[in-house]
Amino acid sequence: MGKGVIIAMTREEAEDAIISIMKDKKFGKSGNSIVVEEFLEGPEVSVLSFTDGKVVVPMISSMDHKRAGDNDTGLNTGGMGTVAPNPYYTESVAKECMEKIFLPTINAMNAEGRTFKGCLYFGLMITKDGPKVIEYNCRFGDPETQVVLPLLKSDLFTIMKATTDGTLAQTEVEFADKNAACVIMASEGYPVSYEKGYEITIPEDIADCVFVAGAKCEDGKLLTSGGRVLGVTAIADTLQEAIDSSYKMVEQIRFDNAFYRHDIGQRALKAKE
Ligand code: GLY
Repeated sequence: MGKGVIIAMTREEAEDAIISIMKDKKFGKSGNSIVVEEFLEGPEVSVLSFTDGKVVVPMISSMDHKRAGDNDTGLNTGGMGTVAPNPYYTESVAKECMEKIFLPTINAMNAEGRTFKGCLYFGLMITKDGPKVIEYNCRFGDPETQVVLPLLKSDLFTIMKATTDGTLAQTEVEFADKNAACVIMASEGYPVSYEKGYEITIPEDIADCVFVAGAKCEDGKLLTSGGRVLGVTAIADTLQEAIDSSYKMVEQIRFDNAFYRHDIGQRALKAKE
């Protein structure tokens, strides 16, 4: 559920959305065809997983924050921040997902002769009727990866090789028993239109925690060149500490027209109460 998705709360909003996408071409040619889906309600869970086409090994769960504004307001984006693990992904939800979603997915792909090996992304919503799939991606997620891979203790290359060799069941996949938070700094106006070309300054002592995305190097300077400019990840023993530490770093990074959500992880914190 990324860019180009409009969540309509009323029929009128749905009709306006169709006009803006298909007639006014809000998303350009991408709006030549649209998909209308069931309205699902509930917390979102992202589960990136390794698969060799035989078994599915879920990575630590995470929670994306898709809306552009605080308190889940504004347009949907590619993701404005993440936390891991996701408190809504309990052991019983994980078991249900494995039985009803993960294994049936790879089995169906095998049956179609399209065995999938690598990283399979399950975008889930935990509804009152149980977990439902919002989207699949055959790739790592962004900004989920920024909180998931820093918590991986096992060797990523060994695991990825096992996905292609078909030996994933015998391969160790272990995650740290810690929490991670990532806050995305974006260009004001994203995901619709925004200005680019502003110089970014990142203090050297926090550079290792910054994942640069929508930026380019020009004449030795780092300049903004995209909507989601960079993500700042912190790892800590508790979720609160990880969130605080990530925001502390965000406040030290500068570029004109920067904006970010101020509530990354708040829903997860409440769920833990
Ligand atoms: N964060 C959503 C995605 O990677 O598609």
